[in-house]
Amino acid sequence: MQNFDYMTPTRLIFGKGAVDKLSEAIRPYGKRVLLAYGGGSIKKSGLYDKVKMLLADFEIAELSGIQPNPKYDPSVLEGVRLCKEKKIDIVLAVGGGSVLDCSKAIAAGAKYDGDVWDLITGVKPTQDALPVADILTLAATGSEYDGFAVISRTDTNDKIGYFSPKVYPVFSILDPELTFSVSKKQTAAGCADAMNHVMEQYFTGDTTLLNDGICESMLRSLMANARACLANPEDYRARAEMMLACTYGCNGILALGNTYSGWPCHGMEHALSAYYDITHGEGLAIITPHWMRHVMEKAPDAVVPRLVKYGVNVFGIDATLPLREIAEKAIRATHDFFASIGIPMTLREVGIDESRIAEMARHVVEGWDLKDAWVPLSAADVAAIFHASL
Ligand code: NZQ
Ligand code: ZN
Repeated sequence: MQNFDYMTPTRLIFGKGAVDKLSEAIRPYGKRVLLAYGGGSIKKSGLYDKVKMLLADFEIAELSGIQPNPKYDPSVLEGVRLCKEKKIDIVLAVGGGSVLDCSKAIAAGAKYDGDVWDLITGVKPTQDALPVADILTLAATGSEYDGFAVISRTDTNDKIGYFSPKVYPVFSILDPELTFSVSKKQTAAGCADAMNHVMEQYFTGDTTLLNDGICESMLRSLMANARACLANPEDYRARAEMMLACTYGCNGILALGNTYSGWPCHGMEHALSAYYDITHGEGLAIITPHWMRHVMEKAPDAVVPRLVKYGVNVFGIDATLPLREIAEKAIRATHDFFASIGIPMTLREVGIDESRIAEMARHVVEGWDLKDAWVPLSAADVAAIFHASL
């Protein structure tokens, strides 16, 4: 078991009516709030009006129009400018992972005088940040409980995963009812994203029975509850369990004591959504089964036993079958589950063809360390996985 040094400082305020605690939770951080949100879902649902009402005695500046795969220019830059101009005390993100991530980058940029891109790329360390808080409206990324922000830059086709302990949300308000309005497409993509977060921590060399059991249970929970949410978008129990499972995704708790896997599917998907602006969870669902097959062929001694454990404990595949057959069935079951919840399962269906595969594969290995992944991947391996996913 590996050493670790772990902390997640975020207060989680979970359940029906949790939004009512907003004023009490935010008050200690100051009066001037940057309210950040996306393309309008919070106006349609009435959440925007509710937040404004709850913050009636605060000074509010607004940043709207944050897009999925949030953009450095204009959203991060505009948010930083607003924070400095209005002397903002706290950034309040209301929305999905994209709004949260953008808000974290803004919070760091607001306390920095140089080029904010240097912070995001890690060229300069993040010494300080404004506090960030959020009201989450989409269960998927786990951004509400981690210190990551994923920011895209369209001029360079970069999609960078930024991390700083300074940008963990100080509190996250998680009311499952706020996710009732999430579309089937985003519900399925959120499930695939969260499942992949679990897999990126499960498929690695050194793990524990404890972590394996938690991960397997998370995967079963995510699949069952995604199906229930799709059948009835207002199923509170299912939305609630899904929201909590997604929250555990990226803060490391599932991998305490494990070796680091390298998170290869995320490295590859970030290039797909950087170049083609696709939905993150869909990109992951498409490439995951092909990554599984590729690494199984490359390193069968390491990969087949993990796929067998996963196949038996997550999908209930007959443990008495030959090992290779169980592994094959596990890969098939992964693909078939994603297809069954309505995810397009080829890159062509999301508008990606072979024309930029070589360029994207190079970009992946230059920006993401896959040499030290559980099964190391070269640019040629990444290109092969992309081709298989077409
Ligand atoms: O923009 P609005 O109008 O709010 O609409 C959004 C958006 O169109 C909509 N939506 C959100 N809540 C809704 C809703 N529609 C109806 N009802 C609601 N309650 O859903 C659409 C997608 O939103 P987005 O925030 O982009 O989705 P998600 O939460 O999946 O975030 C994806 C981003 O997070 C990054 C991804 O790469 C991607 O950029 N990730 C962040 C991570 C992190 N910080 O830890 C880890 C992840 O692996 C991931 O990379
Ligand atoms: Zn993800």
